[in-house]
Amino acid sequence: MKKKILITGGAGFIGSHLVRLMVTKYPDYQFFNLDALTYAGNLENLKDIEKFPNYHFVKANILDAALLKVLFHKYSITDVIHLAAESHVDRSIISPLDFVYTNVIGTVNLLNTAKDFWKGDLSYENAQDGTWDKRRDHLFYHVSTDEVYGSLGKNGLFKETTPYDPNSPYSASKASSDHFVRAYRETYHLPIIVSNCSNNYGPNHFPEKLIPLFIDNIINEKELPVYGDGLYTRDWLYVIDHARAIDLIFHEGKIGDTYNIGGFNEWTNIDLVKLLCLQMDKKLGRAKGESEGLIKYVKDRPGHDRRYAIDATKLEKELGWTPSVTFEQGLEATIDWFLKNKSWLDNISNNSYQSYFERNFRNVGEI
Ligand code: NAD
Ligand code: TYD
Repeated sequence: MKKKILITGGAGFIGSHLVRLMVTKYPDYQFFNLDALTYAGNLENLKDIEKFPNYHFVKANILDAALLKVLFHKYSITDVIHLAAESHVDRSIISPLDFVYTNVIGTVNLLNTAKDFWKGDLSYENAQDGTWDKRRDHLFYHVSTDEVYGSLGKNGLFKETTPYDPNSPYSASKASSDHFVRAYRETYHLPIIVSNCSNNYGPNHFPEKLIPLFIDNIINEKELPVYGDGLYTRDWLYVIDHARAIDLIFHEGKIGDTYNIGGFNEWTNIDLVKLLCLQMDKKLGRAKGESEGLIKYVKDRPGHDRRYAIDATKLEKELGWTPSVTFEQGLEATIDWFLKNKSWLDNISNNSYQSYFERNFRNVGEI
């Protein structure tokens, strides 16, 4: 069957890498990239593939249920890969409702539209007797985050069975959307898959998140604001490896299941920032240690999760996925990309984002 796949949020960071990977790999499928082009969406991310015959861009908001219905009918959508979201924790502290609208209500709109459009093909028997897995005529794939599991102590890893325990408005909204996706499986037999991934990094990463913000600041010799004691731990994955995992799970994952995605790559923020500073000093021809001098410990983020770490054993064992690059390789490729694409960063800094950042984001620790 020739698939007609709706990818939401394809103009964003992860979405654009996924769209590129799938559009180039599957010339027989048609791809519809639906994106509202919020501050985080950027069609420049997809310039190289925008003329491909199997790629189509639709500017639309997932809150517009009527329009979603029209689009599903017009393009006979067979599958959805849902990434559109408000994605930054600091913003969610400032404006939680934006996260409820897009991440929760937007997701439910999409679920409803898919359920209604595929209704004739969804059957209780199909869901109960396990044949779901064999019939891959439809799939609603929800891209989610490990942050739904809450915060780990010194030991342990997030498994697919770890209970949800979200702490930020962002993670609460993603947890809620995950629950709705699962509820649509149970209630309406919608064929779904959810994956929960650790922190991504790589080219096209919006410079409000730690790694691209600090690369930008190091280039411009601005302060590097490390929240709290800097001993918070994140598990970092190169964005292209996340896209590879989504592609694999989309095609071979068990329908109705959940998969954790991560590269067993934990770093405290301060160690990561020091490594980034070292690599940047080399690239910029600066004296060793120069960029480290820009580090400034600042007031902590409210409700800051101490540690995230993913157990990706299921994905590795069942589907044979492993990351393609080490952290050092991925970080170097990321730095090289940002240095080569300074205009991408400058274009973002020149639009309204900068004033939002200056007004709200820098002061988030003061809430
Ligand atoms: P991003 O903020 O870079 O991109 C989000 C995209 O969604 C943007 O293109 C934006 O224009 C679009 N969008 C936002 N609201 C919309 C709406 N109402 N209607 C239509 N489009 C809308 O985000 P990202 O970092 O690429 O994350 C993508 C997905 O992956 C999110 O669902 C996020 O929760 C999840 N995720 C992210 C990470 C990470 O480290 N960045 C890790 C795990 C999971
Ligand atoms: P971030 O990139 O915002 O991702 P998330 O909050 O989803 O994990 O932040 C990664 C870590 O870096 C997190 O522990 C918060 C910290 N951080 C800073 O210390 N300073 C900063 O300026 C930012 C943006 C993040």
